[in-house]
Amino acid sequence: MRKLAAGNWKMNGMAASLAEVKALLAAHPDPACEMLLCPPATLIAQAAWATKGSALKLGGQDCHPKASGAHTGDIAAAMLADAGASYVILGHSERRADHGETDALVLSKAQAAWAAGLSAVICVGETEAERDDARTLDVVGSQLAGSVPEGATGANTVIAYEPVWAIGTGRTPTLAEIAEVHAFLRNRLAARFGEEAAEMRLLYGGSVKPSNAAEIFAIGDVDGALVGGASLKAADFGAIVAALAAA
Ligand code: 13P
Repeated sequence: MRKLAAGNWKMNGMAASLAEVKALLAAHPDPACEMLLCPPATLIAQAAWATKGSALKLGGQDCHPKASGAHTGDIAAAMLADAGASYVILGHSERRADHGETDALVLSKAQAAWAAGLSAVICVGETEAERDDARTLDVVGSQLAGSVPEGATGANTVIAYEPVWAIGTGRTPTLAEIAEVHAFLRNRLAARFGEEAAEMRLLYGGSVKPSNAAEIFAIGDVDGALVGGASLKAADFGAIVAALAAA
C-alpha cells in the first residue's frame, strides 16, 4: 500500500497560490508516498496544467451525486476528472454540518465519483460532545457503514478519520485515541470487505502539522493524513510529506 499525504485547501486559494504548489513540487519532486492536493474547484485545471507530468495528484472537495443536469452551482465528478482531478473528498464534516449532508448522500456521491474514475476520500468523525459521551466508535462506525458503498476497494476508496473538534483547533486526540479509532475502522472494513480492507488507506485529519506528523504516522493503521491549514504553505505540507515518506 502506498501511503497518502493529502491536503484540503477548503475555501482558500487564488491563482497566485499556485506558487505554493510549484514550491512543493520543487522541494518534493518524487516523494516515497502519494501526494495529493485538493484546491478549490476553480484552481484544479490551472493546477493540473502547472504540474502536468509531476508526482502531484489533484482532487476536488465535493461532487454532486448525478452525472449532469439542472443543479445550479454544483459540480459533477466527471467535471472534476476532466479538469485534472483523480480524487474527491466526500462527506467532510464541514459539508455534513454546513450543507446537511447525510451518510446516504455521501454514499451516492462516492458512487458518482467511482463512475467518473475518481477515488473517493470519505470522511468520518465525531463531535466533541459525542466523544465526551463515549460515543466515538458508535458514531464513526455508523458513518462508515452508511457512507461507504458496496464495491469499495483500496483503489477507489480512502477513509479519513477527522474528529470534528480537532479540525482547525490545534487540538488532537492522544496517539492512543487515534490508534483505537483507526484499528476499529480497519476491523469494520475487514468485516465488510474482507482482505481488500488491508489495501484501503486510513488517513488521520485534524490539526496535523510538521511538529506532530511523525508521531501520528508511527501509529499502526495510520496510512497518511488529510491536512487542512498546514497544506496551504508548501514548507509545512512538504515537511508532512517528508515525515510520511520516512515513516
Ligand atoms: P486542519 O488541518 O486545518 O485542522 O483541517 C483538517 C481538515 O479538516 C482536513 O480536511
